[in-house]
Amino acid sequence: MATEVNSNQAGANTWRERLRALRNLPPVLRLVWDSAPSVILWGCGLRVAAGAVPLATLAVTKWIIDAVVDVVAKKHPMPHAFWWYVGLEFAFASAGTIFTRAIVYCDTLLSDRYVRYISIRVMEHASRMDLATYEDPSFHDRLERARVQATDRLVMIQALGNLLQQAITTATLAASILFFSPWILALLIAFVIPAFLGDTHFAFLGYSLNFRLTPIRRELDYLRTVGASKDSAKELKLFCLSPFLKGRFQKLSDEVCDLNNELAGRKMRVGTVLALLTTLGYYSAYAYVIYRTLIGAITVGTLTFLTGAIAGASTNIQSMFSTFSGIADQALFLSDLLAFFQVRPTIQSPPQPLPAPRPIRSGFELDKVSFAYPGVPRRVLSEISLRIEPGERIALIGENGQGKTTLVKLLTRLYDPSAGRVLLDGVDLREYDLEDLYSQIGVVFQDFVRYDMTAAENIAVGKRGAIVPPALIAAAAMKSGADEVIQKLPHGYQQILGRRFDGGVDLSGGEWQKLALARAYLRDAQLLILDEPTASLDARSEHEVFEQFAELTEGKMALLISHRFSTVRMADRILVLEGGSVVEQGSHHQLMTIGGRYSEMFDLQAANYR
Ligand SMILES: Nc1ncnc2c1ncn2[C@@H]1O[C@H](COP(=O)(O)OP(=O)(O)O)[C@@H](O)[C@H]1O
Ligand SMILES: [Mg+2]
Repeated sequence: MATEVNSNQAGANTWRERLRALRNLPPVLRLVWDSAPSVILWGCGLRVAAGAVPLATLAVTKWIIDAVVDVVAKKHPMPHAFWWYVGLEFAFASAGTIFTRAIVYCDTLLSDRYVRYISIRVMEHASRMDLATYEDPSFHDRLERARVQATDRLVMIQALGNLLQQAITTATLAASILFFSPWILALLIAFVIPAFLGDTHFAFLGYSLNFRLTPIRRELDYLRTVGASKDSAKELKLFCLSPFLKGRFQKLSDEVCDLNNELAGRKMRVGTVLALLTTLGYYSAYAYVIYRTLIGAITVGTLTFLTGAIAGASTNIQSMFSTFSGIADQALFLSDLLAFFQVRPTIQSPPQPLPAPRPIRSGFELDKVSFAYPGVPRRVLSEISLRIEPGERIALIGENGQGKTTLVKLLTRLYDPSAGRVLLDGVDLREYDLEDLYSQIGVVFQDFVRYDMTAAENIAVGKRGAIVPPALIAAAAMKSGADEVIQKLPHGYQQILGRRFDGGVDLSGGEWQKLALARAYLRDAQLLILDEPTASLDARSEHEVFEQFAELTEGKMALLISHRFSTVRMADRILVLEGGSVVEQGSHHQLMTIGGRYSEMFDLQAANYR
């Protein structure tokens, strides 16, 4: 397992890299915008208004204080509109409060809409991926990062809003400082820049660390799941595996914590020094303004105004820079989300797809098909040629790992062959519309899915859209023997299965299998494939299933993979797969007469029953 942290990201620690990450912003903004345009417009409007409030308030305060000083110290008469100004300041303060609340409200709305929108987009896109993509471990890293990013990066969107507001406040305050003294402004900016550089630097280091830790975090997740799952509970207890898993979890999480702590520590030390520098800048400016007031160069009102403006501008410049570096950092994370959206499946319908033939006239044909899994040099199948004619029932046998399931994946176009062609009615499978082709095939895989849904839904998922009249569901269940199982459940067809949800009832492996079979029967497919579907059925159930199967597949094509010869011998033709090739084929009798691999395996199994 990938436990060591590779350092290939460390070299990319450059400014260019950082700026390049910002290129992610426009497409992400596009996603955000699409998720809730009106909420965004409101949010921006409110932030512009809120951004101008501090300057407006300060300006009124200056006027009021100068007026008070005039009245108290110089005994001037009270200015005409004095109390109106006080009222105005109150109005600004109230507006500020209202804006802030309204912005929070908009942000909440936006988060909900955005999370929903992105989650749906991720689900949609993931569903378009082909099987090869799913079976590629690096895809899972990316998918997981995309998933996390879909929701975590919300902070970034709010940060963008804050940046807008901070920018407006800073610009208005800075303009007013500039009006009184350009030097003060220059001083403030000069002292803030180091803190900004520090912030971006650490944000970037944090990103590359996070990136490198993804494999470890995946393993941690795995250990957490195995350590507390229903499927592993039996073995965990009997093998006393918990301490082993816990130890491994601790070791790995210590590694992660150490790396994070080390970075956080450095960030704290450097960050503190730089922040102190910024404070120094602020107080230098402050002292300068006090001095100017004392020598009578500016009024007390202006002193109040400037100290307020300097404090406001300095905090806002600082926050603006750190908000910005936060955004740059988050934008780096988003590259995974965008990369995920850019992955295109290789198994797709052609531009001008053919509809699947109904009925199929000449059947399926493998024409010198070879196959190796992506990234694995070894060929699982080499130059296999075979035909499945309409109405023919074929059994495929072979030891584990000989490529039986792989052959099914090629026949159903879950994968394309590395060489050779798979034909349906003489036309390459790649010419057909993919969904239409899939709709003609019913498969029960060895590792079929147990949906934590109702019994009826577990069968209905076999049909596109999963909305099926109950009578059809019951008919399919009857054929597979699932009906008998379901009738015994407290809520019958409406019984929730699996242990995930409250009130769910779990079934035995064989019972689940009957449901999976019903699903395949519901499809009304022209080719039915059962990949070791009866492995966990008892001998009697299996016999029943296959008696039914023979009836159900009457006139259809069927491919049956099984280790039980009592079942296999019912097929019209038997293929023996070994070392990536079909080594024998024929009927039970023919193969028994040759006395090759088949008869050898048959005798071996028969001996066990004697
Ligand atoms: N997704 C995959 N990636 C790489 N190798 C695989 C994958 N799936 C199966 N294999 C390998 O291909 C071989 C054939 O597997 P499979 O078709 O499942 O055999 P069978 O169904 O006959 O037991 C095995 O050696 C297996 O390890
Ligand atoms: Mg298999």
